[in-house]
Amino acid sequence: MSDQRICTTEQLSDVLKKTVSERRFIHSVGVAQTTCMLLDYYGCTDYEKTWNGFEAGYFCGLAHDLCREMPGPVLIEYCRKNGVHLTKWEIESPVLAHGKASAFMAGQLVPGYPESWKRAIEAHTTGLNGLDDLAQALFVADFIEPSRTFLTEEKRREYLANPSLTACEYAILCDMIAHWKEKGYHDASEGSLLLKRELEEKLGI
Ligand SMILES: [Fe+2]
Ligand SMILES: [Fe+2]
Repeated sequence: MSDQRICTTEQLSDVLKKTVSERRFIHSVGVAQTTCMLLDYYGCTDYEKTWNGFEAGYFCGLAHDLCREMPGPVLIEYCRKNGVHLTKWEIESPVLAHGKASAFMAGQLVPGYPESWKRAIEAHTTGLNGLDDLAQALFVADFIEPSRTFLTEEKRREYLANPSLTACEYAILCDMIAHWKEKGYHDASEGSLLLKRELEEKLGI
């Protein structure tokens, strides 16, 4: 795959289709469309909207889970081999590394794509260090896109009733943390508590 060079959204979509399962492909297209919708809906202008014929929200949505289906050890080895630096959290929970790995793979396919787009893809797994409009829209879209059937339409509308993208992301994060606790999966991870604090600071609460 690393020798492929692609120039259009259609080509990126074709590569994604060959790389991931049908379910993941449908999810990624949903994230792409929803990220664009959110950026528009919240009137976001402070991001690099287009580059070389690609649109930010659509590109990041299609690319964000390119490596999501790599098994943990393969993902860690892929990052090591390509000099992708991982945090201790990503090494301990390899699934978290798919953001950075996918951002790297996107760069192999589309060399020189914007750094801010790369950061948004890298940050989508934890939300950490992803507090610009594009990264926040991608994080929210990943959770609310239409194929996420665990969400009701009413809940989707409730999230979208938030006055800002930051408030919307905060509401989702609080629900995620409450859900983990309720199901007894685990208490909120260190990363999600850090993101919660970052968002509270941004919201001034
Ligand atoms: Fe992901
Ligand atoms: Fe995703």
